[in-house]
Amino acid sequence: MKIITTEGITKKYNELCAVDNVSIEVSRGGIFGLLGPNGAGKTTLISMLVTMRRPTSGSAHVNGFDIAKQPDKVRRSIGIVFQDPSLDEELTAYENLELHAAMYGVKDNLKQTIDEVVELVGLKDRLHSIVKTFSGGMRRRLEIARGLVHRPTILFLDEPTLGLDPQTRTAIWEYIKDLRRKYDMTIVLTTHYMEEADSICDRIAIIDHGKIIVLDSPSVLKDSLLGDTVTIESPQAKKLAGILKKTGIEKCTLHDGKVTFCVNSGEKRIPEIIGLAKDRRIPVSSVNLHKPTLDDVFLHYTGKTIREENGSARDSMRMRRRAMGK
Ligand SMILES: Nc1ncnc2c1ncn2[C@@H]1O[C@H](COP(=O)(O)OP(=O)(O)O)[C@@H](O)[C@H]1O
Ligand SMILES: [Mg+2]
Repeated sequence: MKIITTEGITKKYNELCAVDNVSIEVSRGGIFGLLGPNGAGKTTLISMLVTMRRPTSGSAHVNGFDIAKQPDKVRRSIGIVFQDPSLDEELTAYENLELHAAMYGVKDNLKQTIDEVVELVGLKDRLHSIVKTFSGGMRRRLEIARGLVHRPTILFLDEPTLGLDPQTRTAIWEYIKDLRRKYDMTIVLTTHYMEEADSICDRIAIIDHGKIIVLDSPSVLKDSLLGDTVTIESPQAKKLAGILKKTGIEKCTLHDGKVTFCVNSGEKRIPEIIGLAKDRRIPVSSVNLHKPTLDDVFLHYTGKTIREENGSARDSMRMRRRAMGK
């Protein structure tokens, strides 16, 4: 049985279609990633699944419950870690967890449950410290622990490592992977970090402008590109793309003064292409060859790199707030 299904779920904010007719299925167990640039609609989609926002049209079932008709049952069976910090700064870690437990009516073995969840995220020795004194990474870990107190079947994590430094980010990945190993739990996370999706997700849905572009395991997605990716930088990238077409390379993408295309045995094709460019007096500034990554998958399906799309003002404000521990 599928643990999450959506049927044409759509969310409009006036003219803007933030989530556009999304129909997906998520199997029980494992880590499912929603990967897309800022503004793609990830938070909006998750918010509807956790019953915090109502769809404009379409429907969804989470843990077998209808999000519109049985929101309380949905809420009780899921844990949520929000994109924006949501801890009480003035309280200790224990008090934050206790408060959450009270909201969910968790009474039995509360102390033992709290001990277990903080152990899982490596915060046992800071259980009675005030959250104000915590680093960004510790706060995130506490938020994850809090999402687990009422023993949810599904844990939703919205951008779990946004704004954290690379080392802390890798540590959070390990905690998330640990959760999957230790509990029979389904984890749904959103991210705009390719590396994150690639290293921890079993399956990924790429979302762009509210639409699901493609959905599969990271390895199947990468293998689907057939070939190596070659990127050539040139002040005359457009002209170069025209010449490539004549050599049988049909699918070229132009971006930031570069032309990108996929070929088999890229290392053998590069000298030929450079020779052609030289004949036509097209300067080449740099050449790059590499095996497929999720970046290439994104570029292939959307015609742009995820990095061009990221870095909005809203996002950098969030990162600054998190770095300052606010
Ligand atoms: N409450 C809102 N009112 C109007 N527009 C919104 C609101 N929330 C999000 N949006 C817009 O919807 C789109 C998707 O946003 P969001 O779901 O936050 O994307 P993501 O989480 O992928 O960055 C964006 O264009 C965003 O500006
Ligand atoms: Mg978001």
